Amino acid sequence: MSSGIVTVSYIGATILFILALGGLSHQETSRRGNLYGIIGMAIAVLATILSDVVTSYFIIVIAMAIGGTIGYILAKKVEMTQMPELVAILHSLVGMAAVFVGYANFMDPTAAFSGIEKTIHEVEIYVGVLIGAVTFSGSVIAFGKLSAKISGKPVLLPARNWLNLGLLILTILLGKWFLAGAEEGGGTFPLVLMTLLALAFGVHMVMAIGGADMPVVVSMLNSYSGWAASATGFMLSNDLLIVTGALVGSSGAILSYIMCRAMNRKFLAVIAGGFGTDSASSGGGPAMQVSGEVTAVDAEEAAELLSSAKEVMIIPGYGMAVAQAQHTVNEITKTLRSKGTHVRFGIHPVAGRMPGHMNVLLAEAKVPYDIVFEMDEVNEDFPDVDVSVVVGANDIVNPSALEDPNSPIAGMPVLECWKGATTIVLKRSMASGYAGVDNPLFVKENTRMLFGDAKDSLEAVLKVLQS
Ligand code: TAP
Repeated sequence: MSSGIVTVSYIGATILFILALGGLSHQETSRRGNLYGIIGMAIAVLATILSDVVTSYFIIVIAMAIGGTIGYILAKKVEMTQMPELVAILHSLVGMAAVFVGYANFMDPTAAFSGIEKTIHEVEIYVGVLIGAVTFSGSVIAFGKLSAKISGKPVLLPARNWLNLGLLILTILLGKWFLAGAEEGGGTFPLVLMTLLALAFGVHMVMAIGGADMPVVVSMLNSYSGWAASATGFMLSNDLLIVTGALVGSSGAILSYIMCRAMNRKFLAVIAGGFGTDSASSGGGPAMQVSGEVTAVDAEEAAELLSSAKEVMIIPGYGMAVAQAQHTVNEITKTLRSKGTHVRFGIHPVAGRMPGHMNVLLAEAKVPYDIVFEMDEVNEDFPDVDVSVVVGANDIVNPSALEDPNSPIAGMPVLECWKGATTIVLKRSMASGYAGVDNPLFVKENTRMLFGDAKDSLEAVLKVLQS
């Protein structure tokens, strides 16, 4: 295929990727956005395979068959609740690819650069391997934390910020050494040493981040994986990879910013780590003990409360995803609305385990978009709400975020459902949520606990409502 056709195909793919991002920003257009992305990627892969850079189709076909089969099996097997872990491990692959491409470029005997071009090429290799290694090890740890294979509690080494600063200075010095060494045909030692340090930094950075701040890390690693792809594009002189990587990198960075704002955290403070421990919380003292009596109800009592309510707010959380209760939630919504009840959904920006997690589930169950609201749009309305139904949520409705300056989640905005007349909380036990923080909502006077799997409980409530 001529290089002109390849360039045109790459421009077409880039436009489709931009349209895909635009489409994915609204629920109504997200399917179309996905389709644009798929077509763009198909064009990009085909154009690359048919271009002059590919010399052996045999290897490409074998690699695609292996990769495609693994991807197909994973996508078929993965549960919705495991999606964030899958995304994290996929990020790690992007990082690993950047490291391999960097080393391959460094060792390439046919590379014929000289003068300033050679220096630029070496900087590309160094930066590409650096970002790739941090992305790789950070994503592997994020995978471990999200899948509960590693404890969600932050691991804090003494003088960790000094350690990070030291690593940064060492990386810069090694970079100088690498560039000087590479000029003389060496440079392997500083490159390998920097790779090891970058791997250690990735582990250290993500290990230090605690429970409720993981969303920021996931979107940050998403951004890193984009920059790693972009760096790979520079090394391979592939314009499409540069642009696509930059798109992923910048949208991930914007998402990290949005997440930080939603959690009322400063980006640098999250990266420095330590949230999620008592000592790192804003007050510095021990968190308040939660004590009081729990009022448990059965499905019949919950249905009665709902039947007599005029204003209902449903607050879904991670437990709704675990129980796959979204369809039953929709049935209850339909039943209540047919009786004239005003039903709305309040969605916290970090509900569940990935950005937009709850919106995806509600869309799958065909809950109408116009009754699904973001936290900020409904938080002031709770005093007028008769019944809030908390479906498997915990951290996102924890009043201690606002009331206890010593709480590990102090300062994080939450859905203030306790300000309504009654709150029904559906969960299986009194266990804490992802951040591992006790929740005083469960012992408030106007809270009713409906214990059990959210889907089973809601089905029982629906039965009573329909009878
Ligand atoms: P969580 O605070 O994790 O609470 C979920 C609750 O659901 C648990 O307390 C659990 O209690 C209950 N549950 C689990 N399975 C259930 C089932 N089958 N039926 C009924 N209840 C069930 O979730 P949340 O309120 O959605 O808050 C999200 C948390 O995850 C935040 O801390 C957030 O920072 C973090 N996080 C979010 C993201 C993104 S991007 N959204 C990414 C990583 C981490 P029982 O065990 O008692 O049932």
